Amino acid sequence: MKTNNQSKLFEKFTINRLTLKNRFIMSAAADNLNNSHDAQLKRFAELAKGQIGLIISGGTRTNKIAIWEDVINVVHENGGKFAVQITAESGPGIFMGNTTGNEDVVAVSELPEDHLYFKSLAPFVTYGKHHAATERELEEIIDRYAKAALLAKEIGADAIQIHAAHQNFLSQILSPLTNLRKDKWGGSIENRTRLHREVCQAIRKKVGNNYPVLIKFGAEDKVAGGLRFAEGRKAAQIIGACGYDAMEISQGLQNYSDWSKTPMHPNVQKSEDEAYFRSYCHEIKKVVSIPTILTGGIRSIPTMEQLLNNNTTDCFGMCRPFIREPNLIKRWQSGDHSKATCISCNKCLTELFLQGKPLECYLDEK
Ligand SMILES: Cc1cc2nc3c(=O)[nH]c(=O)nc-3n(C[C@H](O)[C@H](O)[C@H](O)COP(=O)(O)O)c2cc1C
Ligand code: SF4
Repeated sequence: MKTNNQSKLFEKFTINRLTLKNRFIMSAAADNLNNSHDAQLKRFAELAKGQIGLIISGGTRTNKIAIWEDVINVVHENGGKFAVQITAESGPGIFMGNTTGNEDVVAVSELPEDHLYFKSLAPFVTYGKHHAATERELEEIIDRYAKAALLAKEIGADAIQIHAAHQNFLSQILSPLTNLRKDKWGGSIENRTRLHREVCQAIRKKVGNNYPVLIKFGAEDKVAGGLRFAEGRKAAQIIGACGYDAMEISQGLQNYSDWSKTPMHPNVQKSEDEAYFRSYCHEIKKVVSIPTILTGGIRSIPTMEQLLNNNTTDCFGMCRPFIREPNLIKRWQSGDHSKATCISCNKCLTELFLQGKPLECYLDEK
């Protein structure tokens, strides 16, 4: 194995004007810590001390961006860089379990209660009252993304990331399963990527060309009737050319009846189980000119070196490994190159979303 001095993984990497100290990125993780300020500051200080190149916040609604100001300062004091992940504000099941059924929320399309979309996301997301967004509501959504990006810049975030993966609004508008629209936002792949492009343009008008704007992109749905990769690749090509500075690769709609149909595959043990979205990234990298971030089951240095060498990606996103070991990069830098100790059991996720517990590794808890 190469030493740190020889490995490109530990070299600086630049996205737009933002220079990262290495190619390791903490992928977004919701943390249930917004009401536990001190615990949240402690968590992000630890991550920054752990030498991660870029730390991405958990998905944050456009009207909640200001909550990150103190975290940003703490990350900077500890030598780190921070990006806010921005999500839309409403829609059926966009936010885990937020659909109470009482509030008539804005959605891409109106879907019946027995729709596969809701079945595939149970028990994390349930059916709720919703309506297809009007033209005006879509314009408002674009405006809210743009204002949120500007606020993130103003409070000191080094970058923002638009969430267009998993069950998010932008994944839903791209997916033929959930986008049933007959207007300029539905049908062709150009129409289904219109919101991604208009959001980017509106953000650029507010933050300028030199501010890093990333996107997390769902390349394929793991639900019957959803987005297939052939279309996902075309969408990536269109979105990759519209003004975003880097694209993190993940999947689109997920199916919680089987963890392997979600972005959080279980039991990532062998090297061939690692980097389970590598083929998406490898193919997308051929059709986009912006840097890519490959996320999903990245666990060991040899796998990453191989993926860098064969031009699969530029950077690596990890989420669960940093929940268990916030100091993982520091450990690797110190010469202990054994792979991440996270076993991908997903207890952190179920405790967080089903029990409302704070984000941490629950593997060793009886
Ligand atoms: C507890 C938890 C919370 C997550 N929250 C988010 C989120 O807010 N936004 C997002 O894009 N992905 C979220 N993810 C997905 C991760 O960013 C990542 O795509 C996925 O876990 C695969 O990477 P990994 O194998 O390194 O964990 C979350 C994952 C976990 C385990
Ligand atoms: S609970 Fe711990 S070991 Fe299990 S997936 Fe989460 S971080 Fe990894």
